[in-house]
Amino acid sequence: ALPTHVKIVEMGPRDGLQNEKQPVSTEVKLELIRRLIDAGEKHIEATAFVSPKWVPQMADHHEIMAALKSFPEAQDGSVWFPVLTPNLKGFEGALAGGAKEVAVFAAASESFSQKNINCSIAESIERFKPVIEAAKAQGVKVRGYVSCVLGCPFEGNIAPEKVAEVAKALYDLGCYEVSLGDTIGVGTPNKARAMIAAVAEYVPTSKLACHFHDTYGQALANIYACLELGVATIDSSVAGLGGCPYAPGATGNVATEDVVYMLNGLGIETGIDLTKLVDAGAYISEQLGRRPVSRAANALLAK
Ligand code: HMG
Ligand code: MG
Repeated sequence: ALPTHVKIVEMGPRDGLQNEKQPVSTEVKLELIRRLIDAGEKHIEATAFVSPKWVPQMADHHEIMAALKSFPEAQDGSVWFPVLTPNLKGFEGALAGGAKEVAVFAAASESFSQKNINCSIAESIERFKPVIEAAKAQGVKVRGYVSCVLGCPFEGNIAPEKVAEVAKALYDLGCYEVSLGDTIGVGTPNKARAMIAAVAEYVPTSKLACHFHDTYGQALANIYACLELGVATIDSSVAGLGGCPYAPGATGNVATEDVVYMLNGLGIETGIDLTKLVDAGAYISEQLGRRPVSRAANALLAK
């Protein structure tokens, strides 16, 4: 049976913008976050405490956190603003900024791990241990990502068992949720199903999130397959923004508008107002000088 309620984790301000070549001002990012909150989003990945040399677009992480502190939804805890922290340095920055939730990110592919975070999978897990320990001590929640779960830009096919091994490692270390990323959007539903089944041997599906990029137009079909297996947390990006700087050719995440439109049709609750969400997507798309990469958003905007 399909879930009755789905948690959407909004990727727009982080995964969505990290790959933009033109600088996006801190003020525009904050206005986007305000509009996403207004649309009813409760989990908004706000920025990344990664090296500004590696990802210049996230260099304003301190400013973003400082501004978020004055948001009533951050103060009363009604909206979560997770941030990426690849190592202790990143975690310390996030903590100083007031983060209540952080995310560590690993990969199921050795080559992608090297390209993305400059270390092997095993080294990354070692690096996350002190981050997760420190987070626990501070009462900060930790999300874990596994990238390249259905394919790697450098290695091609990835075995579901390898994904399961990395997901298990993150879960065993104390990640409360593990997000499985089809970083380059190559997956199709049967592959997605087999991968989820392999991971579910070690991590309960209630602790899994699916994170699909829509490069080949398969994201909604893959999400539906994951919903059928009991996954009830979906990562998506308003206006279909995004791409990973270390995954050549990958397009944006599945558009939050398209996901919410589908879930509304299925009678699955998200707490998100689609009209306001489309407005938020139109806002950021206009700032970037393009149309939203969302079929549902464009259909609704044309009305
Ligand atoms: P490194 O060069 O191996 O790190 O990078 P290092 O420890 O040797 O330090 C080198 C320099 O970076 C030093 O500065 C450090 O201080 C600095 P320098 O002395 O040269 O001036 N540094 C930092 N600065 C700011 N914040 C930090 C930090 N750590 C070190 N946290 C590192 C290793 C992990 C830092 C680097 O590879 C990096 O920042 N990678 C981030 C890559 C990234 O953000 N990728 C995109 C996000 S992942 C993704 O999109 C996939 C996902 O969406 C899921 C999916 O789709 O599959 C999550
Ligand atoms: Mg991603």
